[in-house]
Amino acid sequence: MAKAFAPGKCILFGEHAVVFGHPAVAVAIDQGVTASVTESSNWTLEGNRFEPSRHPHIEHIIHNVFQYEGPPLKIDIESNLFSAAGMGSSAALSNALAAALHLHINPDSKLDQVKLAKMAHSAEAFAQKGRASPTDSSTSALGGCVVVSGDRVPGTIHVFDTSLNTPEGNREWTINTVSIPSSLNDAFLVIGFTGDTSPTGKMVAKVAKLISNNPEMISEMESISKITTAGLTALSVGNLDGLGLAMDACHQRLRNLEVSTPKLDRMVEAAKPHSLGSKLTGAGGGGCMVSLTNDPTRVAEAIEISGGTPLITRLGTEGVRAL
Ligand code: PMV
Repeated sequence: MAKAFAPGKCILFGEHAVVFGHPAVAVAIDQGVTASVTESSNWTLEGNRFEPSRHPHIEHIIHNVFQYEGPPLKIDIESNLFSAAGMGSSAALSNALAAALHLHINPDSKLDQVKLAKMAHSAEAFAQKGRASPTDSSTSALGGCVVVSGDRVPGTIHVFDTSLNTPEGNREWTINTVSIPSSLNDAFLVIGFTGDTSPTGKMVAKVAKLISNNPEMISEMESISKITTAGLTALSVGNLDGLGLAMDACHQRLRNLEVSTPKLDRMVEAAKPHSLGSKLTGAGGGGCMVSLTNDPTRVAEAIEISGGTPLITRLGTEGVRAL
């Protein structure tokens, strides 16, 4: 049997602004997806007959990317991510499955994280009508801290460039990483799920409409970009207080863009007394918030009391790997 794990992700800075070409910063988290494949007499997923049309990411990886024509496979997937909540669960699934399939076809070979990032991005695009940012797929594949941007980002390590032909035209991104200093080993993220799914496409469209009706609001994107740069600098030098302050500032800008909700704001406020910084993470409109803290148990309790479901993780864990 071939088995692999790929982590989920949490966006620390730059959601929504990244759609306008500014950088976004995401970290890989402890939680993720495990995929295993083994030869079988018929195609199964989780013990049931595999129906390709219901699982576009899996279908795309097996048949379009690998062009697999071998014997049927028994596929098993385990996830401890909240799905449709901005944690990158479909990208983690795509990475884990592509890695497991690669190891099934080429036992004893090494995993190529950049190749896997590109495969997972193409699966996301296939499943999302040609529109997908490479943030989730590259963070899950590379692990650590990943910076996705329209342009090169000073102070980061450039890993690869990628592009996608979307219905709105060709889009290009540069994928970079930042080393996480050891002083951040004592810090945790507590992610709080509102219980409501996060409609990324709807929220991106809502922000586009807000900007088109109020062109002066584009300055919010520039502010998020400056906060992202400051937050990235703080992260690179292990300045936890600065990183937290930048997260607080980012949440305020996202509120100005009207992507927060009363529930997200309540959870952010509840986490504050025990946190270095807190913000919504991902598209907003539901989904999750995140707090940076040295006291994850207290923050998890506060999130639970305010109605959320908490999950504790370290920052910038290892990317896709064989098990
Ligand atoms: O899908 P989520 O919740 O991880 O958020 C995506 C981040 C956005 O900037 C809102 C959209 C995008 O494509 O980058």
